[in-house]
Amino acid sequence: MMKRMIGFLMLLVLLVGCANPLVEERPYNGMMNPRMENRNSMMNPRTENRNGMMNPQDGNRNTHMTLNNVGPLEASKGLNALKIPEVLEKATDSEYDYEITAQIGSTEFFEGIQTETFGYNGDLLGPTVRLRKGETVQVKINNELDVPTTVHWHGLEIPGDADGGPSHLISPGESKVVTLKANQPSATLWYHPHPHGNTGEQVYKGLGGMLYIDDSDADEAIYPNEYGINDFPLIFQDRQYDENSQLNYNQVMNFDGTIGNISLVNGTIDPVLTVDEPLIRLRMLNASNAREYTFRLSNGATFKQIASDGSRLIQPVEMKEIILTPSERVEVLVDLSEVDLNETVAITDEFGNTLLPIERAFNSQETKEIPEMVSEEIFLSEEEKQLPVTKEIELFGRMNMVTINGRKFDPNRIDLRQEQGVTEVWEIYNRPDMMGGMTHPFHIHGTQFKVISRDGIEVSPNEQGLKDSVLVESGERVKLLVSFPEKGVFPFHCHILEHEDNGMMGLIEVY
Ligand code: C2O
Ligand code: CU
Ligand code: CU
Repeated sequence: MMKRMIGFLMLLVLLVGCANPLVEERPYNGMMNPRMENRNSMMNPRTENRNGMMNPQDGNRNTHMTLNNVGPLEASKGLNALKIPEVLEKATDSEYDYEITAQIGSTEFFEGIQTETFGYNGDLLGPTVRLRKGETVQVKINNELDVPTTVHWHGLEIPGDADGGPSHLISPGESKVVTLKANQPSATLWYHPHPHGNTGEQVYKGLGGMLYIDDSDADEAIYPNEYGINDFPLIFQDRQYDENSQLNYNQVMNFDGTIGNISLVNGTIDPVLTVDEPLIRLRMLNASNAREYTFRLSNGATFKQIASDGSRLIQPVEMKEIILTPSERVEVLVDLSEVDLNETVAITDEFGNTLLPIERAFNSQETKEIPEMVSEEIFLSEEEKQLPVTKEIELFGRMNMVTINGRKFDPNRIDLRQEQGVTEVWEIYNRPDMMGGMTHPFHIHGTQFKVISRDGIEVSPNEQGLKDSVLVESGERVKLLVSFPEKGVFPFHCHILEHEDNGMMGLIEVY
């Protein structure tokens, strides 16, 4: 009841806030609930070109309001060495290759205080799982939580029954063995729970980990590839702690996306990354429930983006900022060889707040030569660009009134069907509401798609790689080229976890 009241009040505030599109920022005044005070949800229309391309070719179309830009995170004071998740070891003498246990733990985020958290094979987050391209492995999943869970392999193109979607619940105390086949390009994917109605809470409490698909050693060696040395996983999340420093999801839950004021990178508060080589590769994942990030480098240097969610880009793209909506990933290279050692370098958000300071402890200034990859490949053929739309998806609503094609998730209803291996064009339309609407990150299981266009305009080079999640702004129409290599029933949904939990999800049967 209380939640509903808050929801209604927020709706009112939004209504007032959005009445004048020229008003750039309008912070809530937090009168509706003291808990929300430090949330400071100002709504910023995007002022920059999407993804901060160096040479934008696509004009200024980012004028829509978004609720996802919700005010600054507290800057990292750089007090704690960034934790690097361990790489999951292969089991040697058992029938399965890997074992992953979802468990309850506790984490000392604040000195002397234990916070209850969830983790895989540990207290918080999970180990990095690395699969070799083409490899098939058996993974045993154990649920030692006191609630049902699943493990979903986000971005992996595997049959529906191994996907770990909402219909694959594992009860407390139970286990399940799944077969994963890495039959796709090398990429940075991830894994996380997916029990319908509880995904938001379980991720918030700490469940999630990286899943890499590795190329052959020779191909991987083109870029820095020493894990934790010059190739770093960066899992970005935001949290709000209660008065006892606990992650009290029910207290902070927001139907339009639970956000926090504290930034975590790999579960570390106030992190600092120390590097001893000038050229580093960062694999950045937005694993927040709802927050959208705009990353920049504090010294104005650029990121060289080499990969999107599911593959390398056609060619590396210089980016002065990187926008990631929930569940999106990029791989970027950062070259620090030219930066004066006295100058501070950090990854910041769009407000200039430091999220991750980078400390340099170089042994040498030597930097690896990165071949200028000029790929012959074309991203989309003329034929592909001309394909007619055969699936229309309409995203609509706010709070717990979110829908896809006018309906909420029903585990017993198949919403769409598509033939295995047959390419279709999906058009995702984010229908605005009276208040302007909000951005939804749209995700499809079991496929890596290509983004054909946004409102008819070809996408920027930094989106010219395979993807499984895509930002769709309010009022925007995004065309995707989609094919499913495997059969089964797969969810598609908004990756704001509270929208997903409230039914902004459908099912497609691949036959
Ligand atoms: Cu990241 Cu349905 O998943
Ligand atoms: Cu997924
Ligand atoms: Cu949404």
